[in-house]
Amino acid sequence: VEFAEAVRRRRMVRAYRPDPVDPVALSRILDAGRRGPSAGFSQGLDFVVVTAPETRLALARICGEDGYSSRGFPPWLSTAAVHVLPCVREGAYRERYAAADKAGSGGPGAWHVPYWWVDGGAALLLLLLAAVDEGLAAGFLDVADPDAVRSLLGIPADVAPLGLVTIGHAANDERASSSLGRGRRPLDDVVHRERW
Ligand SMILES: Cc1cc2nc3c(=O)[nH]c(=O)nc-3n(C[C@H](O)[C@H](O)[C@H](O)COP(=O)(O)O)c2cc1C
Repeated sequence: VEFAEAVRRRRMVRAYRPDPVDPVALSRILDAGRRGPSAGFSQGLDFVVVTAPETRLALARICGEDGYSSRGFPPWLSTAAVHVLPCVREGAYRERYAAADKAGSGGPGAWHVPYWWVDGGAALLLLLLAAVDEGLAAGFLDVADPDAVRSLLGIPADVAPLGLVTIGHAANDERASSSLGRGRRPLDDVVHRERW
């Protein structure tokens, strides 16, 4: 798919067919996900990838699949063939900026934004676009209880799961289009040319 087309087609899909995802396609998606930028090239990013149905079901429970069902959504979390949890470790940034070649270049203590979250967001978008590029669908949601997710998946205490990316084959999900009727802000509204 052309880049512009992938950007246009991307949207959060909240209904999946249970068919498995080709592992080679999944590898390409994950590879795209790790190619994003990171402050100082700290690379404090990890992906936990879950395909086992029982673990997906456990994640779906933690992340509130029942709540979605009661709002009329299909069981999209447990049905999506793949769950990817992008995780960031703040310590990787602190370690990187303590290195000799970073002396005097600021770092986490001087930043007005914790850049590990920014880099995690960049990785998230790459995953979402790469899924579209593979002809697949993807969604994203808050993990609700990060400690429960950490304990289920053995994620270390100093690593933060950003959320859960669902990847799979799209089913009919007419309820899922951009926050149910809330339109995207027009370009001229979003862009402030030369100054705000
Ligand atoms: C940081 C972030 C958190 C989100 N959390 C949830 C969530 O918990 N549940 C959900 O269904 N969608 C979630 N979304 C998806 C948004 O609702 C969705 O991106 C937005 O409505 C725009 O729709 P689109 O991505 O399909 O264009 C989240 C998106 C982002 C970027």
